[in-house]
Amino acid sequence: MSAQAPPSVLYSKDEIARRIADIGGDVGRAYDGEEICLIGLMKGCLVFMADMMRAIPLDMNCHFLRAATAQEGSGSVRTDIVYSTDIPYEGRHIVLLDDIIDTGITLSFLLNHIQEQRPRSLKVCALIDKPSDRKIDVQPDWAAFTLREPHGFIVGYGLDYEERYRGLPYLGTIPRPARPVEGRKITLSSQG
Ligand code: IMP
Ligand code: MG
Repeated sequence: MSAQAPPSVLYSKDEIARRIADIGGDVGRAYDGEEICLIGLMKGCLVFMADMMRAIPLDMNCHFLRAATAQEGSGSVRTDIVYSTDIPYEGRHIVLLDDIIDTGITLSFLLNHIQEQRPRSLKVCALIDKPSDRKIDVQPDWAAFTLREPHGFIVGYGLDYEERYRGLPYLGTIPRPARPVEGRKITLSSQG
């Protein structure tokens, strides 16, 4: 493997820790001492989940989901749940942890799916919100960071590029990959 420059720092380990403490407190206050069901979207949420579990001052149970979004031959986009722990949605306060909300396609599918399971409430907490890339109008209830300016491809703190960089303690950027990342080449015709 050729030597490569390390990703440039977007948010340092300390900046991340401060924001996790802030939003952990915000989530705690929103539920007034009630138990929540924290669901992490694999695999990017891994490190975020571990930190949020310890920053939210509530009783909780923890679960994991994995969704895959791909473009089909017809040009339409399809999202499927490809892995799930045995999640007791019904009657629970669900908090979904997402690493990056980009087009919003994956999140929008998951919100519809979870609502059908009749939770008591459903909220979304994102590590990074990229509102300018949205193709479907969904918003997180909390976001540690909101990125409005153009930036490179984000890696580290659980996020990967082709499975690399997940273990970096900071959020960094690498130059945008020339070829699309698997499952990320998405164009929607018209979204009413
Ligand atoms: P979307 O909102 O359906 O477009 O899906 C967002 C997902 O795309 C995130 O959960 C990430 O897995 C992935 N993603 C989007 N942008 C980046 C990036 O800059 N770095 C790493 N993963 C990304
Ligand atoms: Mg992901």
